[in-house]
Amino acid sequence: MRKWLAMLGAVGLILGVYGVGTGSCNKGPEVIKLPSPKMKKTTVTFSHHKHQEILNGNCGECHHSKTADWKQVPYKEGMKIEKCETCHNKSHPNKKLNSVKKAMHANCKGCHKSMKKAGKKHGPVKCTGCHKK
Ligand code: HEC
Ligand code: HEC
Ligand code: HEC
Ligand code: HEC
Repeated sequence: MRKWLAMLGAVGLILGVYGVGTGSCNKGPEVIKLPSPKMKKTTVTFSHHKHQEILNGNCGECHHSKTADWKQVPYKEGMKIEKCETCHNKSHPNKKLNSVKKAMHANCKGCHKSMKKAGKKHGPVKCTGCHKK
């Protein structure tokens, strides 16, 4: 009996730590406004929750963490989500990804372009489709 209780305790601890079954996943803001002062003072309005639906809740399409040697680790439930600029700044070793602009363009435009190529419903690929006054 004691053994079972101990086991239940351990399972409870594991579930608690990873937030499994509690629906505690923080989905972040519904819409995120990204001001672009250097792009003619425009703003990119990003439909965060709509994108989560389009991607069937696959947060790892956009969110990841990193290893000590700068390899990316795709998001899994329970992982901490940080702002892109935490890593995509001048200290990022990959010159193609060492700013928020580069990281976002690669992620956002990258997906829209490849979906367009595949003949699928896609988001904007032109500057003014995303950057609006
Ligand atoms: C799919 C959407 C999308 C498209 C298309 C796009 N951008 Fe962006 N752009 C962003 C996002 C998101 C950011 C990062 C957030 C921000 O600073 O606005 C960004 C950032 C920028 C920035 C830096 C803004 C700042 O003030 O720091 C510039 C400059 C820029 N884009 C220019 C362009 C140009 C020029 C084009 C067309 C060749 C373009 N973008 C196309 C989404 C887009
Ligand atoms: C299509 C890309 C995309 C997908 C998919 C996506 N997100 Fe995001 N998310 C973003 C961007 C971009 C930001 C703004 C990051 C920034 O400001 O640096 C963000 C911000 C967040 C934030 C706020 C972080 C902060 O510190 O401000 C949370 C929390 C979050 N997302 C959770 C999720 C979860 C959970 C999922 C999956 C259910 C998800 N996101 C799916 C792109 C995405
Ligand atoms: C904890 C650090 C960290 C955060 C936060 C982070 N990244 Fe990354 N990102 C990395 C690392 C490390 C790589 C791998 C670089 C390489 O392979 O050269 C990477 C790679 C990428 C790539 C390359 C394409 C791919 O997926 O392989 C894109 C695009 C990207 N990140 C966009 C983003 C965006 C957008 C955000 C914010 C929503 C973000 N990253 C947040 C560390 C981070
Ligand atoms: C993995 C694919 C993917 C990624 C990554 C992605 N998008 Fe999209 N986006 C789509 C698809 C698909 C649509 C078309 C949705 C529709 O029309 O129903 C879309 C639509 C849009 C639209 C049109 C208006 C709307 O909200 O429906 C904007 C603006 C947009 N995306 C901006 C962004 C920005 C900014 C980012 C990066 C932070 C981003 N997208 C990342 C797939 C993606």
